[in-house]
Amino acid sequence: MLYAAALIVVALAALYWWSTSKFDYWSRRGVKFPRPAPLLGNYGAYLLQRRNLGEVTRAICRQFPDEPLVGAFYGPHPVAVVQDPALLKLITTKDFYYFNGREVSEHTHKETLTRNLFFTYGDKWKVLRQNLTPLFSSAKMKNMFPLIECCTHDLEKLLDEQSKTNKNGVDIRSVISRFTMDCIGACAFGINTGVMQKDSEVNPFRQIGDKIFEVSIIRGFLTAFRSIWPSLFYALRLSMFPPQIPAFFHSVLMTVFKERSLTASSRQDFVDMILALKKSNYITGDSVNNMKGGNDKLQIKVDDEFLVAQCVLFFAAGFETSSTTSSFTLFELAKQPELQQRVIDEVDSYLSTRSEVGYDCTTELPFLEQCIEETLRLYPVLPVVTREVVEDYTLPSGLTLEKGLRVHIPMTHLHRNPKYFPDPDEYNPDRFSPENKKNIVPFTYFPFGEGPRICIGMRFAKMQMMAGLVTLFKSYRVELAPDMPTEVTYSSTAMVTQFTTGIKLILVPRVKTAN
Ligand code: HEM
Repeated sequence: MLYAAALIVVALAALYWWSTSKFDYWSRRGVKFPRPAPLLGNYGAYLLQRRNLGEVTRAICRQFPDEPLVGAFYGPHPVAVVQDPALLKLITTKDFYYFNGREVSEHTHKETLTRNLFFTYGDKWKVLRQNLTPLFSSAKMKNMFPLIECCTHDLEKLLDEQSKTNKNGVDIRSVISRFTMDCIGACAFGINTGVMQKDSEVNPFRQIGDKIFEVSIIRGFLTAFRSIWPSLFYALRLSMFPPQIPAFFHSVLMTVFKERSLTASSRQDFVDMILALKKSNYITGDSVNNMKGGNDKLQIKVDDEFLVAQCVLFFAAGFETSSTTSSFTLFELAKQPELQQRVIDEVDSYLSTRSEVGYDCTTELPFLEQCIEETLRLYPVLPVVTREVVEDYTLPSGLTLEKGLRVHIPMTHLHRNPKYFPDPDEYNPDRFSPENKKNIVPFTYFPFGEGPRICIGMRFAKMQMMAGLVTLFKSYRVELAPDMPTEVTYSSTAMVTQFTTGIKLILVPRVKTAN
């Protein structure tokens, strides 16, 4: 008994020592940092799933408002939380090479789904990015628009059905995500997902979409565990994403390949590109080292698993981010009817000269666009963008950031900092009017990220969000459901910014005025 108790004491002492052994990291470098707690560092509220990551980093930065870089500890690991726009420019753009990793980079090859563009780093990331970028060119977007337009017709039917059956409030994120899922299915994979059809609860795409973004304590725990102890996590054969997800997309891809008889079609969509990659077995591109000078080319082996990883990323990023942003926009406009009326007037004026929503909706509705920009300020999809130092780097201050150090870019804090955005909690789309936009300090607002790793799907996102919102406002205005709170709390376990309550709105059919 005594022996067991002694063992426990020794184990606890060893854990305590291990979890605090690096806690002098920032003091030795003369960097200010908040006092960390054993085991959890300064991210306890996030790791214990009590607060969202954006709120936690915001609280860290607020303790040291004048420090360009605040030291902190993510569990036992040091992390640099960077809040100075000039430093952010260096990290994300000018000296990007040194920060081209995202987080726990060395482990991204250990799971099929983390072998994708979002998680990889170094040469693999560079070659992939180079090869996938052409898919998102403006010309490609324009060519894809008819597919999105087609999805807006199903959205109209879905909104009609929802407004009639859920008079007390519609779960708007779920409705819009069915639209964006259909858009990405059509544009990226050339398939009709059918998720906007009636009784689509059993639709496999919808089910897999729910699985990818499942909000649960276990999922939150696994994400935190992986980010702190990646070696142990993978040694225990755990994975961040359930195995059904890659299996599902493997079968989808094989079916689409078969339909296209393993030859590229004239659609030149994502599947065509994937087919071309599959045939060549390798992709070629520049080494990431060329960013420092040089002209090295290299090849990366392509196998089915690797292709599946990219597919899942595009599917997941393609629907969830845009539906979340669209529904936050609707939530804010429901709270401010006069702003909503400005959007409706703009939509009516746009539709008065054309019968259907067209690709020009991305440029012809500036106020709606401002609303989306303001939504992304208040609710950045990724509340913290991460980077990892891949080679020692010395800042202009003389502080050296060592290889392997985590860097957190606190988007929520930057976007809600009164120094850059007066009355930061107020939803005011006029901040992004052409006159005001030019006064925004560079590198204080970048909801799609910045530099070579900026969101590759930004244009696609904008296109489907604008098309979806125009379709909705063509026939409805929105009001908060009676049980929908105006002040919300954020989910602490969701992968992207989300409210704990969801967003419930009433779709009120618009009374059309005769011209
Ligand atoms: C409102 C919609 C969206 C928002 C706010 C958003 C935001 C972001 C952010 C903040 C990043 C990280 C950028 C960085 O590290 O600097 C990112 C990366 C990425 N996004 Fe998006 N995204 C959106 C929609 C999409 C869509 C529709 C797709 C694909 C169809 C997509 C695909 C990606 C990919 C592949 C990356 C990784 C890029 C890389 O690391 O090179 N995103 N996104």
